[in-house]
Amino acid sequence: MTMMFLATWLPRAASGNAGVVDGPFQNLYVITAFSVVLVTGLALVFIRTFGRQDEDQRGDEGSGFSRPLFGLWMLAALAMAVFSIASGLPGYVDSTVPPYGAVPVGVTARTGAFTFEYPGGNSVDTLHAAVGQPVVLTMESTDVVHGLSIPAMRLHQAIVPGRTSRAWFTPTLADTFALQDDIFSGDSLLVARTALVVQNQADYDAWMQSVADIFAGRTLPEVGELLYNRMGCKACHTINGAKLVGPSFLNVYGHQAKLRDGSTVLVDAEYIKESILYPNNKVVEGYEPVMTPFLGKLDDKEIGAIVEWLKTLSEHGGAAETGAAAADSTAGGKE
Ligand code: HEC
Repeated sequence: MTMMFLATWLPRAASGNAGVVDGPFQNLYVITAFSVVLVTGLALVFIRTFGRQDEDQRGDEGSGFSRPLFGLWMLAALAMAVFSIASGLPGYVDSTVPPYGAVPVGVTARTGAFTFEYPGGNSVDTLHAAVGQPVVLTMESTDVVHGLSIPAMRLHQAIVPGRTSRAWFTPTLADTFALQDDIFSGDSLLVARTALVVQNQADYDAWMQSVADIFAGRTLPEVGELLYNRMGCKACHTINGAKLVGPSFLNVYGHQAKLRDGSTVLVDAEYIKESILYPNNKVVEGYEPVMTPFLGKLDDKEIGAIVEWLKTLSEHGGAAETGAAAADSTAGGKE
């Protein structure tokens, strides 16, 4: 039973699960309102009917305990409880299991801000979603307890430090909806407030594209560093001169690399590009040819950005001073 007149009290219903949330809420509301009216009404009627009319009136003995009445009351209460659980349970169960194919978005909550991370590693501070496309949020807190709430999606989830919480929703209307932290912990007045932007698939794809453009708003060395972190170079190459699986990137640009075959080669843009796309063509002395080829995974522009970034890590780079001061004997490991 959906009470349309009650629906106007609730925030706009713009998600697929609004029905299974609003329905039970309204059922409970109606049952509770009915009970309040019934009990209060009966109390008033009884007071009027059975109240003492004058000072020396004595009350009846009463008929004592009535088994049928008592049984009826217990049954009614039980029926209400069963009805409440039965109306809410399907929605609850549904809310715990994200549908297959939901877009996974990582949420990091901290005092005053949420960060949303999309597949591919793009971080934004406003949540975006496409109409009809389920989104599953995997949430963590970096400080205190937070709560992510999107009323229009009928979504509320506590985010407790040290735990990973999950919630999902499927938006059904394109619009911008309020999204906020609704658990106030600590003594901070900084409450994170941002928005959920629901778009049609085409607009959403365009937005995704613009976010995925790592060159937007970043300098080339910044893009290079981002790729170093994102593409996994970090697992094998340090930037502090320490040797890992591969040589450190500190001072690598512009130096003469000794190769396995005994020759030396100047590490310049050309050589770096070859090292990234076909790592096994020229293998640095002292290392195994285990680097994964990035052919097809990085384009020329991205490799160019990595080169620019490597320049900033090298005293031979000339482009910047970063790291040059730190260049000392520790860099000798790769020679
Ligand atoms: C699985 C480990 C591994 C990963 C991941 C990896 N590399 Fe390497 N890399 C190596 C090893 C080992 C060498 C040295 C052997 C060789 O030249 O192939 C090397 C060599 C290089 C060299 C030549 C260095 C020199 O001193 O001449 C460059 C440049 C390089 N990698 C760039 C990258 C970039 C950029 C990435 C990420 C997009 C990356 N590597 C990811 C293992 C790795």
